[in-house]
Amino acid sequence: MLKDLVQKNRSYRRFHQDKPITEETLLELVELARLSPSARNAQPLKYFISTDQASNDKIFPHLSWAGYLKEWAGPVKGEQPSAYIVVLNDTEISSNYFCDDGIATQSILLGAVEKELGGCIIGSLNRLQLLRELQLPSHLKIVHVIALGHPKEEVKLEEMKENDHRYWRDVQETHHVPKRALNDIIVK
Ligand SMILES: Cc1cc2nc3c(=O)[nH]c(=O)nc-3n(C[C@H](O)[C@H](O)[C@H](O)COP(=O)(O)O)c2cc1C
Repeated sequence: MLKDLVQKNRSYRRFHQDKPITEETLLELVELARLSPSARNAQPLKYFISTDQASNDKIFPHLSWAGYLKEWAGPVKGEQPSAYIVVLNDTEISSNYFCDDGIATQSILLGAVEKELGGCIIGSLNRLQLLRELQLPSHLKIVHVIALGHPKEEVKLEEMKENDHRYWRDVQETHHVPKRALNDIIVK
């Protein structure tokens, strides 16, 4: 059921780094993005894929992880993502991608979950440095990065209390994510 996939599609930030993800798998995921809706059908998004360790190591240092977990600097070696999809805006097509990026990214992440993988959207990153690192042409702008791997952590959804939307990690290292109740997001 779609709801099961959506529910399982949490932001995962620790992975079994020793379990690789093939380029073929990433191409299958980008195919889901390709089939997704696009404003004006302009399709101005492109994708840089990374599956090997050398390329992954170029991407990782430019990413910021879990801003609310102040004590945690991000996944340690051995728990880092096995692959990345860098979502790019091809400004030669159009600089306005409306909300195409979110739709495409959710398609990719749902596809990943269906394959027993998991990921995290990284919007907080040093775009300029990463662009330089990847040596991409200047008409391509980085929208965000999708980190992917075989999840090594449990993520639980919680009822939001007192409007506190910050996620937290408990002593067992389970990650908890508060969500607003259905009643609280329906406007009457
Ligand atoms: C546009 C966007 C940007 C995000 N950027 C980051 C990020 O830079 N680093 C990070 O660790 N998580 C990032 N996240 C993940 C959110 O923190 C996560 O979606 C939120 O805590 C809810 O958890 P859930 O995805 O499991 O529902 C981002 C999510 C979205 C939608």
